[in-house]
Amino acid sequence: MLILEKISKQFDNKLALDKIEGRVEAGEVVAVIGENGSGKSTLLNILGTFLKPTEGKLYYNNIDVFGSPESINEYRKLVTYVSENSQFISELNLKDNLSYFKYIFKSEKDIYSISEQVGIENFLNHKPSRLSKGQRQRLSLAISLLKDAKIVLLDEPAEGLDVETKAVVKNIVKSFKDKGCIVFYVTHDEDEVEEVCDKILVLKNGKTTFFGNVDEFWEKYEKFYSVTYYEGAKKTTKVVNIDELRSIQEKGKVSHIRNLGLREIINLSEELVKK
Ligand SMILES: Nc1ncnc2c1ncn2[C@@H]1O[C@H](COP(=O)(O)OP(=O)(O)OP(=O)(O)O)[C@@H](O)[C@H]1O
Ligand SMILES: [Mg+2]
Repeated sequence: MLILEKISKQFDNKLALDKIEGRVEAGEVVAVIGENGSGKSTLLNILGTFLKPTEGKLYYNNIDVFGSPESINEYRKLVTYVSENSQFISELNLKDNLSYFKYIFKSEKDIYSISEQVGIENFLNHKPSRLSKGQRQRLSLAISLLKDAKIVLLDEPAEGLDVETKAVVKNIVKSFKDKGCIVFYVTHDEDEVEEVCDKILVLKNGKTTFFGNVDEFWEKYEKFYSVTYYEGAKKTTKVVNIDELRSIQEKGKVSHIRNLGLREIINLSEELVKK
């Protein structure tokens, strides 16, 4: 179990995180969402021990992670982290990259089956520079899979990438979950996450505005839809709740319905509260 106790991070004159609290059990996936600059990456960097909190504590199975250099080192062995900025050695081909990290992580895992899992098995003799952005990101994911991690930190690993790479990430999240890992998943693809996440953490300006499970989220926030429909010959697009959607559907010809993403819904709910 991972416990976040009033974790704050101050950068010069910016309070990037303000007393973040939370408790996450083994096998739980936490989606971290919030607008740009809300503190998502700062939080993941603290959970990965790349940054030290200015205040507060992080406990993993009752061990105070930042309590001593030894506890930081022990904890680090259990953490794997993938961000948009991929990490690998550009001089080595994919197979050698994987072999190198396998050695570093003292991993028993099979690099071929991991390559297949992320769909890079046909590029093992290529250098990373020959790969597309999505393929490179899959290499980073493959490297993260080599480690026998208990805590998995994914900071927008498929941001701006193709549907296949996003599907790979989703499957990886599922397999980490099945293995009992704790996963923190920062993403802009919130709807995709809804399928695999147990909890949602919403950050705004460094503060938690929501932390709970998916059902609790829908108790607090209403679902909204963007609907395009015809009123006679006139085509209109509108954001509506479920009742309004039903009445539009009864009345006329609907051309398109899109579920709003979690982030859009959060912003909209805040607007409604203000009004
Ligand atoms: N090393 C740093 N030094 C000073 N300020 C920083 C540093 N890192 C982050 N910040 C600031 O802390 C705040 C939170 O940044 P963070 O990168 O955690 O946001 P984010 O939610 O990940 O945003 P994005 O969606 O753009 O990735 C921002 O105001 C940012 O400018
Ligand atoms: Mg970020």
